[in-house]
Amino acid sequence: MEDNGSTLWEEEDSRLFLKYGHIFVPERERLARAFIDLIPADQDETFRLVELGVGGGWLSEVILDHFPRAEVIALDGSPSMIEATRGRLARFSDRLRFQRFDLLDEHWPDSLDEVRCFVSSLAIHHLDGKGKARLFRKLYGCLQPGGALLIADIMKEAGYRGRQYMARAWEEETARRSLDFLGDLEGLEIFRRERWNLFLHPDEEVDHPSTLFEQLGWMHEAGYRGVDAFWVKAGHALFGGYKEVTLSE
Ligand SMILES: C[S@@+](CC[C@H](N)C(=O)[O-])C[C@H]1O[C@@H](n2cnc3c(N)ncnc32)[C@H](O)[C@@H]1O
Repeated sequence: MEDNGSTLWEEEDSRLFLKYGHIFVPERERLARAFIDLIPADQDETFRLVELGVGGGWLSEVILDHFPRAEVIALDGSPSMIEATRGRLARFSDRLRFQRFDLLDEHWPDSLDEVRCFVSSLAIHHLDGKGKARLFRKLYGCLQPGGALLIADIMKEAGYRGRQYMARAWEEETARRSLDFLGDLEGLEIFRRERWNLFLHPDEEVDHPSTLFEQLGWMHEAGYRGVDAFWVKAGHALFGGYKEVTLSE
């Protein structure tokens, strides 16, 4: 990843997230199911899907498992993330292609077209508001009719009380997941020590979350229809829209 003036996600963040991402993301299993339900494709169809900020690859993995003919382009800026994930998902090598990209470079989608679906989890908040609005517009142009942009991410709170609530709810979720997956509160301790809860410790150089309301608006302005928030939990949301919307089958 090049440093183009913004402070970026560091390799150390990647190592930490590879180890504890499943603890830090609320309801990741439910989120996975929601993505599958929302992707506009039949299970046995051949189609192209692009994941922005693939990280450890949990989302691409779930999608490749569910859609046996889907072809996935997995993008990330972190060499360590890509190498770890390429090895872990080697069984999909005929349908999964990795590519380095810099999310902050507005031209990365220029060579893409005929994409059925863009998905992303916990990555788009590295762009500021203008960057997000521009990205939503660009990706719209790369989609097939009927295609979708589906994003799960951390939200910016719209007010003080919301922020207090989201901070607490995220801690509670992390504690619960740490107990469930690790059997103790180690995950919560790391979450606190690394100041991961950005409702308590905003890092304005790295993280630029926007409110859910703003992001739904930018999607609608870009032309997407059926724009909605499909899942919301502890300051996180899965939202998205479609290039054309079908209200009934
Ligand atoms: C919080 S992790 C999320 C990973 C994965 N999507 C998940 O949900 O577990 C953020 C990911 O975005 C990538 N990333 C952060 N800033 C980036 C940038 N400017 N360009 C490309 N990738 C970036 C990181 O390398 C990392 O894999």
